[in-house]
Parts: sequence; structure tokens; C-alpha cells
Amino acid sequence: MITIWIITIFLFLFEFRVFSCHALPSDRFLDKEVEHTLNTLIKSSSKYKNLPPLESNPKSKSKTIIPGSIPEYVSWYAPLVFLYSEERYLPYDIEEYVSHFRPTWRNGTLIDLPGKDPKDPYYTKQKLHLSDLEHLPQSTHDELVFLSSLSDFDTDPEWITGKHNKPNYYNGEIKNAPATLIVTDKGNGWVDAYWFYFYSFNLGPFVMGFGPFGNHVGDWEHSLVRFYNGEPVIVWMSAHGGGGAYFYDHMERESLNSTGIAIGNGDQPVIFSARGTHANYPSTGQHSHDIPYAILSDFTDRGGLWNPAKNYLAYTYTPSDENHKNMELVIANGSHPFREAKYGKWLEYNGAWGDPKLDPEDPRQHWSPFEWKYIDGPSGPLTKNLLRTSPCQRAKWWNFWNGCNVRRYVQYGQGMFDQEGNNSCGNFYAYFQNRWIRKVIETLSWGGWICFIIDIFYG
Ligand SMILES: *[C@@H]1O[C@H](CO)[C@@H](O)[C@H](O)[C@H]1NC(C)=O
Ligand SMILES: *[C@@H]1O[C@H](CO)[C@@H](O)[C@H](O)[C@H]1NC(C)=O
Ligand SMILES: *[C@@H]1O[C@H](CO)[C@@H](O)[C@H](O)[C@H]1NC(C)=O
Ligand SMILES: *[C@@H]1O[C@H](CO)[C@@H](O)[C@H](O)[C@H]1NC(C)=O
Repeated sequence: MITIWIITIFLFLFEFRVFSCHALPSDRFLDKEVEHTLNTLIKSSSKYKNLPPLESNPKSKSKTIIPGSIPEYVSWYAPLVFLYSEERYLPYDIEEYVSHFRPTWRNGTLIDLPGKDPKDPYYTKQKLHLSDLEHLPQSTHDELVFLSSLSDFDTDPEWITGKHNKPNYYNGEIKNAPATLIVTDKGNGWVDAYWFYFYSFNLGPFVMGFGPFGNHVGDWEHSLVRFYNGEPVIVWMSAHGGGGAYFYDHMERESLNSTGIAIGNGDQPVIFSARGTHANYPSTGQHSHDIPYAILSDFTDRGGLWNPAKNYLAYTYTPSDENHKNMELVIANGSHPFREAKYGKWLEYNGAWGDPKLDPEDPRQHWSPFEWKYIDGPSGPLTKNLLRTSPCQRAKWWNFWNGCNVRRYVQYGQGMFDQEGNNSCGNFYAYFQNRWIRKVIETLSWGGWICFIIDIFYG
């Protein structure tokens, strides 16, 4: 038993430190494109068998997107996001957020505000705007730019909790927190719509009573809706250990507010944002990830229902020339015309969106047995491998063959339907009628590892 724990803790450290969903500074420039043919992505759905391949750098003649223009189907099929009912860290407006920060290097040295004179007596009163971000120095492997907060984030001020940003009961809108939509053309009729969700704070998990750890200021999460000829085919969502991909047809689209009235248009896929970490799942309940025994879990439920299509910023991002080298980020029209023009190309900022990891000497910093309590802020949307042809941002750490399994069945969280055979492992256990035999099989399959494998074939 001790050995099992040691192995588990080792694997956990390995996963969390090296493959954390919040890219660490050292790997944020290394998102490599893994080429996929459609057959490896879509194994079993005969409906999609004969579709053409996706290209990360499509030639002009196979493109269907006009830079700066968002097809109507993209916002029609925008995801709906159920926030956790007791969520303490709600979505936040990025323009308002950056005004609470100054750009710095890791060592804390201030970087001058672009176009402003530090000798100006009002300089210290000047706020950082989104439109300043594109003028900040580009981060490199060794020299990262951070946004460092002007006041203490650890006291949960309003700009960290976003406590007023609850979705509107009637239409799901969050008035003061736009989502960010980035559309990329994958050639041959394929179009990827990346919806980014920004929260000011990530509250990390607790493990065996220790924690929280892995907290960071600034939190970017995203989901992808992949279209073929205007029809949604796959929905991928960011979560721990690589995220999950599902066929659109099998996702929940019903979306009712607490009195049972529909929000959204009935075609929008529904995803669930987990408590604190804001990782995204297709169902409610406890989602154990990466290691068995539910040591590490995310929790989702039906709290406020957010409809990002009511308030979003929109951009297209596609290669601009036949050499497929220069990527072109073009401002488009989201839900509120002219707002993007005012904010400029803030997406080109490639530094961190929050404070650097707190110094070990800092009284707010603590070492849990696994990880520091406060780690570096995350990097922004353009560093999330948007040119991928696989729906997954990257492979799970245990997935040495780099595959990306697109699931047919939505996996339900524990505590919801799992024992009733609502996921592939449950189906497998339910096969054994005798309770004791079932228990033995469950124990032998180690509550998780075998499920991973069964899942790959029956998911
Ligand atoms: C802090 O880091 C920056 C960039 O790496 C460097 O230019 C600067 O000299 C450093 N400042 C101090 C005080 O070490
Ligand atoms: C649900 O939506 C309907 C229609 O938009 C509204 O009348 C009702 O009050 C909402 N329910 C709650 C609990 O707000
Ligand atoms: C956005 O909409 C406004 C007003 O409808 C229009 O003037 C502008 O050209 C549009 N911008 C883009 C990039 O389509
Ligand atoms: C999961 O179980 C619930 C309740 O038993 C059922 O309503 C639902 O259709 C099942 N979903 C799938 C995908 O099997």
C-alpha cells in the first residue's frame, strides 16, 4: 500500500509540475504542432469518415474564412458555461483587470508604460490599458514579462473575486466580463472557434488535506468548437491533464435556468467550469483526473449559467502569406462593435497575465508537500497552440502516443451517475452481477488506470 502511495505521489508531482494545464514559463514557447490525419482523430464515427484533412497552414484556395470576419454559425454554436454555484472567483473584464497591474520583469524591476513618460508627475497614477499590452517587450525563454499587481491580491479584493460578475438570470450575459473569441481557418472547410474565458484568480486544489497550492493571479481557460462546412463536429475543453474532446452531437445542449426556462438557442453545447480552477468538463459532479483514488479532483455543478455569446471580443488568426510564416491577427466584430479597435492587438502580448511566483520568504507563500501555494501567472491565448489540427491542446502526460481521443459518450462526474453505468468503466463493472465479484474487479482495476484504458476503446 505504501508503495502505491509513493508511486501515486510521484506521478502526481510529475503531472502537476511538468504538465500542468497552466503552462509554466519554460514550456510556454514549446507548444509543438502534432500533425494528425482525420482517421486517427475520428476513429469510429462513420458520419465523419470521409472528411478531408485539417491543415494548420492552409493554402489560400482551401480557406473559407475572410480575415476579420466571423461566420454567423460560430456565435450560434458558442458554448454555454455553467459556473460552480459557490464559485468565489468569477469571470472578469480584462480591460479593468490590467488597470490593477504594472508590467515588471521577474525580479520586480518595473517596465515603463508604453508611450508614457516616467518623469511625468502623474505617471504613477496612469493606468495600464489593454491597448498598451501590444507595446510591451516580447518575452523570451529567459526574460519573461509579468503583470504585477499594485495592491495585495491575497486579501480577495473585488478585482480578484469579480464578485459582481454573476451571469444574468434571463439571458446568461455577464455584462462586465467579455469572453474572447479567436477563429482560425484549418482549410478544406474546417474552422476552429476558440472561446477564451478569463478569471482573475485560480484557486488551486487541496490534496490529502494540504493546500491549496498552485494558486495564480490571472486564469485563462478555453474551449474549442470545431466546424466542418458550418456544422459543429467536435467540442474540446481545457481541463487538467490535456482536456477532453467530445463529438458535438453527444454533448448536452439543454440549458435551463433555475426555474426551468431555456437560456441560449438550444444548439449551444453546455460545459461546466470547475470550482476554483475553472477547468472545463461536459458534465456535473466530481472529476478525478490523472491519478487514481480521486486524490486530485475538480468539482462542477449547475450554478450560474453564462452565455459568452452575449458579450465577447472577436479576432481571426490565420497565416497571412503563401509561405505560411506570418500569422495575422485581425480584429473582427464581436458582440459590441468598435470595442476591439479600442483595445488593439493586446493578444500579441506573450508575457504572463499575473504576478510571478511569490518569493519563498514572502509570508503569503507556503510550500505544500507538492507545490508552492502561489505560482506564476499564466500566458495568454495565442500561446495555447491555436494552429493545432488535433482538437487537444496537447497530449495527456501518460499518452505517449500523442493521440487525442474524441469521445462519443459524455463522462459523468462521480457522485452523479457513475455507479449506474453511465460511463464506460461503469458499464464494464455493471457487467458483473455479483456485488462481491464486482467489488474485487473494481479494486483490482485500481479505480482508475484500467478505466483509462477501457475508456479509450469504449468512451
Ligand atoms: C531585472 O531583470 C531585467 C531583465 O532581465 C534586467 O534588465 C534588470 O537589470 C534586472 N534588474 C535588477 C535590479 O536586477
Ligand atoms: C428564468 O428565465 C425566465 C425567462 O427569461 C425568467 O422569467 C425567470 O425569472 C428566470 N428564472 C430565474 C430564477 O431567474
Ligand atoms: C464592425 O462593425 C462596425 C459597425 O457595424 C463597422 O463599421 C466596422 O467596419 C466593423 N468592423 C469589422 C472589422 O468588421
Ligand atoms: C446516464 O444516466 C442517466 C440516468 O440514468 C440517463 O438519463 C442518461 O440518458 C444516461 N446518459 C447516457 C449518455 O447514457
